[in-house]
Amino acid sequence: MKSLAVLHVSQLVTLAGPTRPRVGTEMAELAIIRDGGMLICGDQIESIGPSGEIEEKSQNAEIVDAGGRVVLPGFVDAHTHLVFAGNRLEDFERRARGESYEQISKAGGGIRSTVEKTRAASERDLLPQAEKHADWFLRCGTTTIEAKSGYGLTLEDELKILCVMRSLKQQSPLEIVPTFLGAHAVPRGMDADEYIELVIDQMLPRVAGEQLAEFCDVFCERGYFDIAQSRKILTAGRKLGLNVRIHADQLNNSGGAKLAAEFKATTADHLEKTDEHGIAAMKSARVQPVLLPGSVYAIGSSDYPRAREMIEAGLAVVIATDFNPGSSPTPSMPMILSLACTQMKMSPAEGITAATINAAYSLNRGNRIGSLETGKLANFSIFDCEDFREIAYWFGIPPLHSVYAKGERVVGA
Ligand code: NIG
Ligand code: FE
Repeated sequence: MKSLAVLHVSQLVTLAGPTRPRVGTEMAELAIIRDGGMLICGDQIESIGPSGEIEEKSQNAEIVDAGGRVVLPGFVDAHTHLVFAGNRLEDFERRARGESYEQISKAGGGIRSTVEKTRAASERDLLPQAEKHADWFLRCGTTTIEAKSGYGLTLEDELKILCVMRSLKQQSPLEIVPTFLGAHAVPRGMDADEYIELVIDQMLPRVAGEQLAEFCDVFCERGYFDIAQSRKILTAGRKLGLNVRIHADQLNNSGGAKLAAEFKATTADHLEKTDEHGIAAMKSARVQPVLLPGSVYAIGSSDYPRAREMIEAGLAVVIATDFNPGSSPTPSMPMILSLACTQMKMSPAEGITAATINAAYSLNRGNRIGSLETGKLANFSIFDCEDFREIAYWFGIPPLHSVYAKGERVVGA
C-alpha cells in the first residue's frame, strides 16, 4: 500500500478530541502539534505526532515536505446548493441598485428563475457545471460537501439533480452528501397544497427508494413553506428514513428553530432571525445550528446570526458557505471564516472547529472525517502560512498550497 509522510508542519491543526461535536470552550481547542508530521497509508492516517518521530517511521514513504506551512483537516461544508444552471447576475445587479432579496424574487428573479434554467438543462448539461463547482470547492480546501436539490421542483427535475450528484460523486475526489430539498419553493402555476402533495406522494418515495438522499430539508419561510406545511413534509421524509435539516428563520423569525427542535433535526440552518427562545429550544433538542454568513453578506444585510450566544448556550455550531447562485455565490470556506470572525465575533479557532469537526458530525461522518487522527481519512490541506489564524485574516484569497483527499493530492503542484 502506498504511504506518504507529511513532515515539518509549523502547526498541524489536528482537532483531536472527544468523539462528539465540540461545544462551549472546546470549540477553541484545536489540539495543534507544532513542528508536526503525519504518516498516511492508503487513504487513512496511520500515525500523527512530532515531525521527527514520524520521519523515523517513514522509511518507505513518499515524503511531502510542508516546509513550515500549516496543515488543517479538509473543510467540511455542510450546506451547499451545488447543482443548478446559469447564474443570477440580474438579481446581483438589482440588489446593487437597492432592491431586496424578497422584492427581486417577487419580480421574477429569485429561486424560481434558477428553476426555469435548471429545468431546461439536461443531466449532460448540468454535470460539467457541477464539476466546475466541485473543483472550486477543492481549490478552497474543502474535501466534503453536503449538496441540496431544489432547483427542479418536478419529480423528473429533482431526480435529475440528484442523479447529477450521484454521477459527480463517482468522478470527483470531493465527497458529496446529498439532501432532498424539493420544498425549496412552490413552483409557478401550482398552489402550495397541490405541490406538497406531489412532494410527499411522488418525490419523497422515489428519492428514498433509490437512496438518492440522506437528508430531507425544507425552506421554512414566509412566502415559501409555513410551519404546518414544513411539518407535513418533514414527517413524511422522516418516515422514509431520511434525516432532517431545515432552512430556518432566514428572513423572518417564523418559528423554524423551534420546529427543528420539535423534530430533533440534525441541523437548523441560517437562523439570522432566531431569538433566545429558538436558541434554548435547539439546545434542549441537541440541534446543531449551521450558520451561513456568506448569504447575509451577499444579500447586503447586516443581520448576522447570534453566533456568540449560541456558543455560550452550548450549541455545537457549524459554519458553511450556502453556495448557491442567488444568496451566496461563494464556495470559499476561508471567506466564510473571515466573515465568522469579523461579523459574528467568533475566534479563528472556533471558526475552524465549526468548519471541520462540528460540520462532520452534522453530516453523520464525525467518526471518519473532520479531524486528523489515527484511523481517519487522510483529507487535509496545506496552507501557505505559518499560523492557522492567517486563513481567516487574509481575505479574498485562500492562502492554499495543496489539498489531499483520501491520501491523494487533488490540488497543487
Ligand atoms: O439558502 N434560502 C433558501 N435557499 C437559498 C437561496 C437560494 C437562491 O436564492 O437561489 C439559501 O439562501
Ligand atoms: Fe441554503
